[in-house]
Amino acid sequence: MTQSITIRRPDDWHLHLRDGAMLQGIAPESARHFGRAIIMPNLVPPVVTGAQAAAYRERIMAAIPAGADFKPLMTCYLTEDTDANDLAQAHADGIITAVKLYPAGATTNSASGVTDFDKVRPVLEKMAEIGLPLCVHGEVTDPAIDIFDREAVFIDRVLDPIRKATPGLRVIMEHITTKNGVDYVRSGGDNLGATITTHHLIINRNHILVGGIKPHYYCLPVAKREEHRIALREAATSGEASFFLGTDSAPHADAAKESACGCAGCFTATNTMSLLAHVFEEDGALDKLEAFASLNGPAFYGLKPNDATLTLTKQDAPVEFADKIVTGAGPVTVFQPGFPVFWAAS
Ligand code: NCD
Ligand code: ZN
Repeated sequence: MTQSITIRRPDDWHLHLRDGAMLQGIAPESARHFGRAIIMPNLVPPVVTGAQAAAYRERIMAAIPAGADFKPLMTCYLTEDTDANDLAQAHADGIITAVKLYPAGATTNSASGVTDFDKVRPVLEKMAEIGLPLCVHGEVTDPAIDIFDREAVFIDRVLDPIRKATPGLRVIMEHITTKNGVDYVRSGGDNLGATITTHHLIINRNHILVGGIKPHYYCLPVAKREEHRIALREAATSGEASFFLGTDSAPHADAAKESACGCAGCFTATNTMSLLAHVFEEDGALDKLEAFASLNGPAFYGLKPNDATLTLTKQDAPVEFADKIVTGAGPVTVFQPGFPVFWAAS
């Protein structure tokens, strides 16, 4: 008997669409299966004002294939110079859905991020007041802290103090990669949620480093030990309202990944829903996939789930995904999980 499951059309609560030729090439990959996506603002230069977010949204809409059921939800990049009134106006005008906090230097294109968290406190107060959520890249940048410990240390040093100082602020701890993150989110009450990526449910740090270095598995936050991957799987497949899908699909042209100083980012937009069906089936939790991918995210953001649906069907033969997406900015390698996947999305 053919096995299939139909869920509300999923949303992606953390996505990099880039700009220019890369945007043109990869936007259709997300528009195919997802209804909405929170669009990361880490362009060069970053999207810091409401006007820039509105202009970027236009460029994205122009890159979405005609007739696609996809809506970009825009964000502004928080800097120490951000004007709270500009954010509030952009929020009131329906231009932005969230604001993104990058600790300066934490990841790709984050040089304009925040160094002194006290400087952004008035902006965070304003966001709490108007109900504008904060998406957080949760890693410290202190060179003395080991890269595998940066998320756990960020929770203690930065995130918990911010949340205690501004208790009304709704915070999304993005792409959590540790059991510490899972535990912190579980203890954090209704104003705290977390996104989990597809690739962090599949790889641990051995996949990156054993048997030769695998640049296409390198992302930030970097994948951790197996015990952390297990904790993420358990959280994602639990159906709990605090955990939802944010793919962090982050394309870089192959030449920039396969380099002596390779860029961080896994590109999963193309096959995420098939991979998630595999993961949730493996954990006996296919009935929780809809909560993770289609229900918990909109509920956290105070939005309705999508009316449209997506069907995942288990095939007899492995699904053949494209190895690479050809773009005007060069080929982009699609994340390969290292095992056959039988679930097709339509
Ligand atoms: C992202 C990118 O390439 O923009 N890279 C990544 O490894 N996830 C930035 C980010 O989300 O940290
Ligand atoms: Zn990201």
